[in-house]
Amino acid sequence: MNRYEAGALYDLTTTCIKPLTINELLYSIGDLHDYKEIPLNYGDITGSERLKTNIQSLYSNQNLNNITVTHGAIGANQLVFYSLLEAGDEVVCVVPTYQQHYSIPESIGANVKLYFLKEENNWLPTIEDLEEVITTKTKLLCLNNPNNPTGSVIPNWLLEDIAELAKQKNIWILSDEVYRGLNMIGNPYSISIADIYEKGISVGSMSKTYSLPGLRLGWVCAREDLINEINHQRQYNTISVGILDDYFASVALENRGWIQERNFNILQAGMNSFTDWLTKEDLVECVIPNGGTTALVKYKKDMPSRELCRRLQNRTGVALLPGETMEMEGYVRIGFCAIALKAALEMFSEFLHQ
Ligand SMILES: Cc1ncc(COP(=O)(O)O)c(C=O)c1O
Repeated sequence: MNRYEAGALYDLTTTCIKPLTINELLYSIGDLHDYKEIPLNYGDITGSERLKTNIQSLYSNQNLNNITVTHGAIGANQLVFYSLLEAGDEVVCVVPTYQQHYSIPESIGANVKLYFLKEENNWLPTIEDLEEVITTKTKLLCLNNPNNPTGSVIPNWLLEDIAELAKQKNIWILSDEVYRGLNMIGNPYSISIADIYEKGISVGSMSKTYSLPGLRLGWVCAREDLINEINHQRQYNTISVGILDDYFASVALENRGWIQERNFNILQAGMNSFTDWLTKEDLVECVIPNGGTTALVKYKKDMPSRELCRRLQNRTGVALLPGETMEMEGYVRIGFCAIALKAALEMFSEFLHQ
């Protein structure tokens, strides 16, 4: 993505919803002069009390000792893996997903088993499959809910069943919930794994639901002993997050109603354009996402996905993410909150038909 995203005229690799400017935040809440007086010190190492209190309000069953603030969700996931895993541990990772979920455990020397979601099951895991893939040696199950790239959302009842299975097997569940709050059907917020399971670890972030990826601010919400271990690990690679990031994240979460309404409108408009396009375009197939910001699209062309994306971008300036990078050859990922989505999808169609 680093190589191709910058040169793209139409960047459909994006997973964010039009990031906010400081002025937009300012406009939404009135005065922000406070931040100019903040000494640019490290700040509270594990996150300010104000920020943690705001994060706590996103959950139903957590206290401040269950939360630690990190450099984005990417930093949160890494700290969880480093705190929990050793060489030889068995990890089951539900794919497709965010690549670090299997690559970091592999790099630690864990024995990683990939469990591939199936399109015919609407990209959802099943208890039967999980029972088969989880063994007595499994230590950790990694989920991404809502899922990047498919946009599938695990229904609450199924998440509860997964938690029950994990309890029987006595394993940890890491659920990367950076798209939590972006369900398009029913309550925008699914239940969180940390709220329903003692060994459930929830990772969250300001990047997607709150449109502030440039803050580089995420968090882990989990059992206190794991949070203590993460806070030990962070001395080696994190210290604190930026004090301004902490401040603006607090302000945004306190005013999240406004951000959520704005984002829901962008999400709906993107989804409408995307589904209109799907009904017209016979060279693609897709399970319609019901959450998140991305869809995984199967194309009916005999060409490797990397080659297809490279040619498409050279010819039209439209950038898509090749499925090959997500162990999903024959697919591309489309970010449906991208700017100029409609025009870009038309160009993709033209390209496919040529
Ligand atoms: C599933 C998932 N987890 C983590 C991240 C990283 O998020 P952050 O920007 O908070 O580090 C992303 C970014 O795309 C993501 O899609």
